[in-house]
Amino acid sequence: MNEPLEDMDRASLFHPFTAISKHNRTGPKIICEASGVRLKDSHGKSYIDSLGGLWCVNVGYGRKEIADALARQSERLSFYHTFGSMTPDITIQLADRVVSLAPEPMSHIIFGTSGSDANDTNIKLIWLYNNLMGRPAKKKIITRARAYHGTTTAVTAATALPTVHQAFDLPVDRFRRTSAACYYWRSDREMTEEAYTDSLLSDLNTLIENEGPGTIAAFMAEPIAGAGGVLVPPKGYWEGVQKILKKHDILLLVDEVITAFGRTGNMFGCDTYNIQPDLMTIAKGLTSGYVPMSGSLISEEIWNVFLDAYEDIGVFGHGLTYSGHPLGAAAGMANLDIFANENLIEQARETGDYLQMVLKQEILTHRLIGDVRGCAMIAGIEIDPDLVAARPDTQLAPRVSEICYQLGLVIRPLMACNVLAIAPPLIISKSEIDEMISILKQALDRV
Ligand SMILES: Cc1ncc(COP(=O)(O)O)c(C=O)c1O
Repeated sequence: MNEPLEDMDRASLFHPFTAISKHNRTGPKIICEASGVRLKDSHGKSYIDSLGGLWCVNVGYGRKEIADALARQSERLSFYHTFGSMTPDITIQLADRVVSLAPEPMSHIIFGTSGSDANDTNIKLIWLYNNLMGRPAKKKIITRARAYHGTTTAVTAATALPTVHQAFDLPVDRFRRTSAACYYWRSDREMTEEAYTDSLLSDLNTLIENEGPGTIAAFMAEPIAGAGGVLVPPKGYWEGVQKILKKHDILLLVDEVITAFGRTGNMFGCDTYNIQPDLMTIAKGLTSGYVPMSGSLISEEIWNVFLDAYEDIGVFGHGLTYSGHPLGAAAGMANLDIFANENLIEQARETGDYLQMVLKQEILTHRLIGDVRGCAMIAGIEIDPDLVAARPDTQLAPRVSEICYQLGLVIRPLMACNVLAIAPPLIISKSEIDEMISILKQALDRV
């Protein structure tokens, strides 16, 4: 019955991050409906969605409050822009609300439509800031190995995964790489967590000194790296990073595209790790994926430099037609109402503790698994690297994921590492977590 749609897909839809030649043979998996934490495909089969879409459906699927807000807004004002001092009223309300929730010292937000474009905007703002500050040589951006910051042109260079560079003539100049932060990945098994943190900080400091602090504009990182392997920083890492950046007068751009809006058990990952960013990027959980919307936030200090300089320059030359789209703003407001009305942050913290506990008890003990790591409602499950090394061609994580799919669980294997990611809607119940874990265990047994 669905074959015409499958043929149509093969004939016309170019899928991102897909093995397109294989896809051309096997065809799409078509999702038609969703509610809460469950998806339904075109054959009527139901799945638990362990990744909330792509780490974004924080309040769950099918929320009537958001659907109603979108219907009301599209009748009242379906579109207006924010260029030339114009703006939809609701966009101001969302800006005010996000800035007041955001960590110190965030002061202004410019909206975008995706995590990638919002990161690109922040990178441009960093370069602009240093030009206005009279230090045009201070332009390089340091990101970490296995970082994921998106795939538009500049930001692809910030992303440190080979797939996104291969054959695209990237990365562009101005980007430098320091080590990923994941204690499980330390090269010396005897190293304590404190010594590991020191080694990461020393790598960062050495890179800055070798390049010359006068050439480094910013350090850009996710509080917990998501798509690169769910890499939870070791103790003292963020404190140490911020000291080094201060010492060298380097800005901190925190990419909160995954971690913002409850994922780590606080409103922002910055709150969880006590980070004071100079710039911050948000997307996904801002609207829980109901409408594409993102934001680039900047500190009071950066904003004041812009205000002064643009007395003479005049027009700030950057923006997207859909920066601050009223439907995105309506979805964002209704989404944040749900957070407030349902105490979703506290719920995420409590259910997150349960999720981490069950993963440690039920999954870490499985003979296929080497590590389970995470924080509240984000987790990574890593296949034992010794097993992977012994059988490099077996694609263990994708196989586990495929069997889970047959059993009714969507779980995503991350690119070029043997890690399965979990970041469910924050409204998931403990019994739904039990169901998810039971399917995952069955799949691990079968593999
Ligand atoms: C941390 C992080 N930054 C940026 C992005 C890019 O966001 P988008 O896919 O909306 O462009 C992602 C996407 O997963 C992400 O995880």
